[in-house]
Amino acid sequence: MIGKNSVYDCPVIPLNKIHSRAGNITITEVHNNIPFDIQRVYYLYDIPGGESRGGHAHKELYQIIVAVGGGFDILLDDGRNKKVVRLSRPDFGLMIVPGIWRELMDFTSGAVCMVMASSKYDEKDYIREYHDFQQLKK
Ligand code: TYD
Repeated sequence: MIGKNSVYDCPVIPLNKIHSRAGNITITEVHNNIPFDIQRVYYLYDIPGGESRGGHAHKELYQIIVAVGGGFDILLDDGRNKKVVRLSRPDFGLMIVPGIWRELMDFTSGAVCMVMASSKYDEKDYIREYHDFQQLKK
């Protein structure tokens, strides 16, 4: 699985949006618009200008990344192809499947990056060296 997955397996998924005069609400529900069981949610915020995050891949983890505030770029890399996705709307999420190297960069001031993940935190699921990633993708 980790070897085969490509950047083309990482769609931007439209989430819902209920609009009213008082603002918007977006709801994410397991197996309704999220195709895996969510075991963990975390968010990145207070990211200094010019900083980048990520710089790793996962062996088994599925994630959906949402720019709940502001915006940022996500560089996806499957060892062959690269793709940059800009997220800047709270009603869209990028799904990242296992075996994809990612870097998050060019955060706007005040951006908040929410991540819904299919498992709890497990450092053993990370591939943190790009060289190791390349070897696994061969
Ligand atoms: P990391 O995933 O490397 O951050 P990013 O990809 O956003 O740059 O995680 C940063 C630190 O936070 C690292 O020490 C591991 C820790 N961490 C947890 O303890 N639990 C978690 O669920 C996550 C995502 C990170």
